[in-house]
Amino acid sequence: MRGHSLISSKKCTVRSEKQGLLKSLEATCNQCKACELNNTRHNAVFADGNPKTASVVLIGEAPGENEDLQGIPFVGRAGKLLNEFLNEAGLSREIDFYIINTVKCRPPKNRVPTEIEKEACRLFLISQIEIIEPRIILLCGATALKSFYKGKSTISKIRGEIFDVEIKGKKYPAMPIFHPSYLLRNHSTAEDSPRYLMLKDLKKVYLKIKLLDR
Ligand code: URA
Repeated sequence: MRGHSLISSKKCTVRSEKQGLLKSLEATCNQCKACELNNTRHNAVFADGNPKTASVVLIGEAPGENEDLQGIPFVGRAGKLLNEFLNEAGLSREIDFYIINTVKCRPPKNRVPTEIEKEACRLFLISQIEIIEPRIILLCGATALKSFYKGKSTISKIRGEIFDVEIKGKKYPAMPIFHPSYLLRNHSTAEDSPRYLMLKDLKKVYLKIKLLDR
């Protein structure tokens, strides 16, 4: 029993250290002026989810209009659709996920972030992964994929496949998935349609974090 309580009190200390690190990183992010996007943002959008319980880090592209106004990632139409898929796969956004973007500030008119903007934000992205130490990283859409996958493949070709991403000597399994904005334009749920495959991929995540690798 004594051993048990020592382990659980150590876990608590580690968790509160992680929260402290994330809080100070977020404060730095909110003040960040490393690229031009700080001139047009309403809010830097740092993260959503519970760093104490999350075992999945999901990385999107960049905040859209709603995210910029609320300061929370994936709260617009794409975010609502993402929530529906997570629920259908048995996953909880609030418990299992830590949701972030490649770039923390909204690019004007939702254009794709430039290389300069991605590079300016890279340290936040890498640090968030290092602090959370996820069991799996989901690369949601092409921008997130390109930040970690150096090959020429596209999301449609390698979604659902798991490969290792190495960050400061530590390997994390990573899986590309469709971006929910793409699914908003593709309504079919027929076998092998993007929506069908998204659910299949998220069920694979469910198996990985809830049943396997324990
Ligand atoms: N699309 C993204 O990639 N991220 C968001 O936060 C919202 C829409």
